[in-house]
Amino acid sequence: MAKVTYIEYDGTAHEVDVPTGWNVMEGAISNGVPGIEAECGGACSCATCHVYVDPAWVEVTGSADGIEQGMLECAASDLRENSRLSCQIQVSDELDGLVLRLPEMQL
Ligand code: FES
Repeated sequence: MAKVTYIEYDGTAHEVDVPTGWNVMEGAISNGVPGIEAECGGACSCATCHVYVDPAWVEVTGSADGIEQGMLECAASDLRENSRLSCQIQVSDELDGLVLRLPEMQL
């Protein structure tokens, strides 16, 4: 279980508990966090679950692999060094306290 904070583009924060084994996108969708669309349901083929990982957490979450990086190129909002697809970040106890910022738009 990890407590994950999703911060919307307007600054609204949502702190939710996400079970180990889920991915960060599932944590947002299951808790009604707005700002993540997840059109492909987590198959790494839509880029509508784009998030910016707080710089303090980039090392823990790791970086996008080649397939994810390629899909991120299709994201609707600015791509940054800390951009990830939230469906590709697996939740573990290590991620307790994770902070993510949501982009202005996903589509
Ligand atoms: Fe489609 Fe993450 S939900 S790429």
